[in-house]
Amino acid sequence: MQQETIWNSEAARRYDTPGAGMFAPELLEPTVERLARLAGGGAALEFAIGTGRVAVPLSERGVSVAGVELSLPMVEQLRTKADEATIPVVIGDMATADVPGEYALVYLVYNTISNLLTQDEQVQCFRNAARHLTPGGRFVIELWVPELRKLPPGQTATVWQAEPGYIGLDTYDVLRQHVVSHHFHFDETEQARLFRSPHRYIWPAELDLMAQLAGFELESRHADWVGTEFTAESRSHVSVYRIPPVS
Ligand SMILES: C[S@@+](CC[C@H](N)C(=O)[O-])C[C@H]1O[C@@H](n2cnc3c(N)ncnc32)[C@H](O)[C@@H]1O
Repeated sequence: MQQETIWNSEAARRYDTPGAGMFAPELLEPTVERLARLAGGGAALEFAIGTGRVAVPLSERGVSVAGVELSLPMVEQLRTKADEATIPVVIGDMATADVPGEYALVYLVYNTISNLLTQDEQVQCFRNAARHLTPGGRFVIELWVPELRKLPPGQTATVWQAEPGYIGLDTYDVLRQHVVSHHFHFDETEQARLFRSPHRYIWPAELDLMAQLAGFELESRHADWVGTEFTAESRSHVSVYRIPPVS
């Protein structure tokens, strides 16, 4: 499963759900608010900008935003909301792409660092973020905590969400540290629509080590965008890494 195949025209067409799901104001508004504060008046760069779910409202909030994105159909969807002059996007891989400009903030949200399927690529991604930041600049990652405690020995799949019309199922390859998320959408008919995406899951401690290899220090980690304490029960985290300012 290649990322370009997964994020095709069909996925791009279905991605935006204004006001609901990942576009719900109670999730998106604190995300934008926190990122705007972390940018501190400087420019921001979003790795894997997608259809601009976060970038568009952040830009409307007055932050200068640029992006990197692998999928043309996702960027075409973004272009229905913001033009190239407002949010410039480089088509490429966030682990290696070079974006003109200097940034106070690079951010990579919605679990997307896990779309890079090897540890090497994930470390490269941190290094690429560092390359784009000015001293004192920040790299923000939003990532889920691997649900390995749900996986008894010998079992290779977990259901992480089950509700009317939707089942989310993960299958694990613990040797390679890979998980494939299966999203089943269904109605009264016998047909279900399946969206699958492969990930390399990362424990927070490994993420911190990747950051360290790229010259970052962990500045803060919370369970969400409004600053809830991160605990052993947290299902997700927002981690802020910083390049030490020049003294
Ligand atoms: C879950 S979406 C997130 C989009 C957006 N950041 C958001 O929060 O809505 C994942 C996006 O990552 C992009 N992507 C996956 N691998 C990538 C890579 N190596 N470099 C750049 N973009 C990538 C996909 O094309 C897709 O648009």
